[in-house]
Amino acid sequence: MPPKPHHITLQTHLKPTSVRLTAHRPRLLISPLCQPHLSSITTAQPRLQSLQRHFSSTPPPAMSSDLNSRNQTFKLDKLFDVSNKVALVTGGGSGIGLMITQALATNGAKVYICGRTEEKLERVAELYGKDIPGQIIPMTTDVSQKDEIKKLVAEISSREKCLCILVNNAGIALNTQQTEASSAEEMSRNLFDDADETFDMWTATYRTNVPQLFFMTTAFLPLLQAAHQHNDNFSGTVINISSISGIVKTAQHHFAYNASKAAAIHLTTMLANEVAQNGLKVRINSIAPGVFPSEMTAQDSGDDQKSHIPREKYESKVPARRPGEDRDMANAILFAATNQYLNGQTVAVDGGYILSAGSGP
Ligand SMILES: NC(=O)c1ccc[n+]([C@@H]2O[C@H](COP(=O)([O-])OP(=O)(O)OC[C@H]3O[C@@H](n4cnc5c(N)ncnc54)[C@H](OP(=O)(O)O)[C@@H]3O)[C@@H](O)[C@H]2O)c1
Repeated sequence: MPPKPHHITLQTHLKPTSVRLTAHRPRLLISPLCQPHLSSITTAQPRLQSLQRHFSSTPPPAMSSDLNSRNQTFKLDKLFDVSNKVALVTGGGSGIGLMITQALATNGAKVYICGRTEEKLERVAELYGKDIPGQIIPMTTDVSQKDEIKKLVAEISSREKCLCILVNNAGIALNTQQTEASSAEEMSRNLFDDADETFDMWTATYRTNVPQLFFMTTAFLPLLQAAHQHNDNFSGTVINISSISGIVKTAQHHFAYNASKAAAIHLTTMLANEVAQNGLKVRINSIAPGVFPSEMTAQDSGDDQKSHIPREKYESKVPARRPGEDRDMANAILFAATNQYLNGQTVAVDGGYILSAGSGP
């Protein structure tokens, strides 16, 4: 014979109605996850009654100084605190890398920036590194060369006890092609016969956009792991700047670039997984930007190292009706750098670009 249901009524002070919990004896037919808590309800009536009294008669706790102090953790300067963190932003001399550098340094981080062009980096440090709580320190480096990465690790290790935030932002886009065609012959001509579309071009794109992330991340792992020892409740973090180009189904006229960015996203996932499997306290995520003004998208930058894309150009192309702005990227990087529960993810910051373009599988 099936066991008889045993009804329990639990009054709450929130609603005049009662909650009925139905349990069977001797075994509860509820999720095993809940059993350790609820199994005692079937046997411990006095405890249940005191719980009922508590819910029906206890007024909400008065705002005490303890609760007040707990509210302090919800303050913006606690939630997004990057002050005194040591960061490295590759490609920090222009575009998205510069936005990221400013976001971190103006909020108190010490930011090393690297790129291949010394004067770009010097100008950024000069223009944006003054009168701010943090610092911007230029270091000329080509991060697509293993020996240069080694030198960079040695240099930063000699100056710092740890690296808290590594932003692998440097990236390149080379050839563009016309993908639209009205016949197979035309499509083949556009894509195959294009003299600039070579195996070397694909390999160069891949080299900077994919293996570079792998070598930078793995070279800096000990210094990133050390961030946990030197910072309270903060794990070292790697943020790869991938792209919505690695997510959308359209080739956007540059197959090689989009394929490399899809690889960068998967590489982020694999690295995050392997690092976590080894029990290391290093979070690895990626930000996939939509269209932002940069030397890559606007072809150049001004004396202030900033680039410009006319707002109207994207009015009908993305739901946000505009390209991304400094604050959109600044906001995203502070979130990814400080959120201790974000790991192995790609966060698209694209004004809804993926929504309109549609993603691949
Ligand atoms: N802007 C966008 O709309 C957009 C959208 C999605 C994703 N992204 C990604 O965002 C990242 C930043 O690009 P961006 O758009 O801001 O373009 P950008 O202004 O051209 O910035 C790229 C930076 O990377 C540096 N760089 C390139 N190769 C390097 C190397 N081998 N070693 C060191 N530094 C190197 C460049 O400086 P040097 O040439 O002086 O070395 C440059 O400052 C890239 O990964 C890009 O794919 C951009």
